Amino acid sequence: MGYDTIIRGGTVVTASDTFAAALGIKDGRIAAIADTLDDPDAEIIDATGRLILPGGIDSHVHISQPSGDGIVMADDFESGTRSALFGGNTTIMPFCLQERDGEMRAALTAYHALAEGACYTDTAFHLIVANPDQQTLGQDLPALIADGYTSVKVFMTYDNLRLNDAELLSTFDVARRHGATMMIHCENEDAIRYLADRAEADGNLRPRAHATTRPVAVEREATHRAISLAEVVDLPIVIVHVSNGAAADEIRRARSRGLRITAETCPQYLMLTADDLEGMDWEGAKFVCSPPPRDAEEQRACWAGLTDGTFDLFSSDHCPFRYEGTDGKMNPKGAKDFRHVPNGIPGVETRMPILFSEGVGKGRIDLNRFVALTSTNHAKQYGLYPRKGTIAIGSDADLAIWDPEVRRTIRHADLHDGADYSPYEGIEVTGWPQTVLLRGKVMIRDGALEGALGDGRYLDRDARD
Ligand code: URP
Ligand code: ZN
Ligand code: ZN
Repeated sequence: MGYDTIIRGGTVVTASDTFAAALGIKDGRIAAIADTLDDPDAEIIDATGRLILPGGIDSHVHISQPSGDGIVMADDFESGTRSALFGGNTTIMPFCLQERDGEMRAALTAYHALAEGACYTDTAFHLIVANPDQQTLGQDLPALIADGYTSVKVFMTYDNLRLNDAELLSTFDVARRHGATMMIHCENEDAIRYLADRAEADGNLRPRAHATTRPVAVEREATHRAISLAEVVDLPIVIVHVSNGAAADEIRRARSRGLRITAETCPQYLMLTADDLEGMDWEGAKFVCSPPPRDAEEQRACWAGLTDGTFDLFSSDHCPFRYEGTDGKMNPKGAKDFRHVPNGIPGVETRMPILFSEGVGKGRIDLNRFVALTSTNHAKQYGLYPRKGTIAIGSDADLAIWDPEVRRTIRHADLHDGADYSPYEGIEVTGWPQTVLLRGKVMIRDGALEGALGDGRYLDRDARD
């Protein structure tokens, strides 16, 4: 058989196995896995001393999302997917946001237009439902689920996005009847507002108050409520960006009752704490995200959840805003009041290196779990497996050839997103992707961009069984 590319000398890692093998790639797919392979016409990539991993899938990324009040997200599809690629990812899943008074279909048409021809990685969109009216729940959502938009996020917080319990139930019901995966942001908005009002009365409007007004209890309560509502409807759900042990315990308890709950955590809950929101002057705004980072004990609880299987997804929740200027973190209102600092931090490029270094490098998880958490489980959860998320005959040749020994200090100056800082600045990591292939095409070779804008494709998904 003639191959387009052969990768040899490396160690292949999947979610289940680690083995020395050569890979033959033909027409963008894995065509052979063997002890040795040869083909005089094929391009040969020498992966000696490297790991060959399924390309990362980051299933929780925000790009070009309308943010209101003159605030602009720092990444469009070009910069967001470029940054993702440099971090070893070959697929990302951003959110198409329906605004509170908006139409889902119009939002989706506009979002596709932004992505068209503007991606370095493959993409598939989740939907965000913020306007669960008759048009959305009765017509648009069922039709879109049938068209393969099979994952839908809802919020229990944020003034302009949150659904009340009745709206959650009716949205869950559509997901159950039409076969979509429901992703839920669990924080109790009324409790947050109560605490924010108290902070305001105390004149306490600095970024640190973002964390103190969103304590563990507001996340734990909402997690419990979301699980209970899903139990009532009989719907499997994904609890996204879990930040602490108490919420993880709710998930464990629900699973022990037989409920189908998947849970996700993110780098910020392993690497940052609420103290980072103190910052110098207003620098704490750089770490404002929801749920907020907690403390060392909760970091340990999140690690425990990653190792004991409570969390099956490790995503970045990349949601970048610039710190400098007036359209991001330091917008005219945000520079005076934490309630106007846009929520979210960048991290799509550093997600895999951080988990590799802190997880595999420090013996907390093994290589196969690393692959499951960063790629395979995302593909399985969101209907992309086995096309994506593994190295198997017939799978897309989406590969991160990983240097497990290279040491790097994270510096925003070396990253490729559109923000102007990294919350992980100065953190030392061991391990970084060296070469990245997307459907067999070398996109990054030895750390240099070789792929073209527009190489990334939109991935159609089948409706869930
Ligand atoms: O602060 C965050 N996480 N912003 C992004 C939106 C979300 O809730 O995921
Ligand atoms: Zn969220
Ligand atoms: Zn998010």
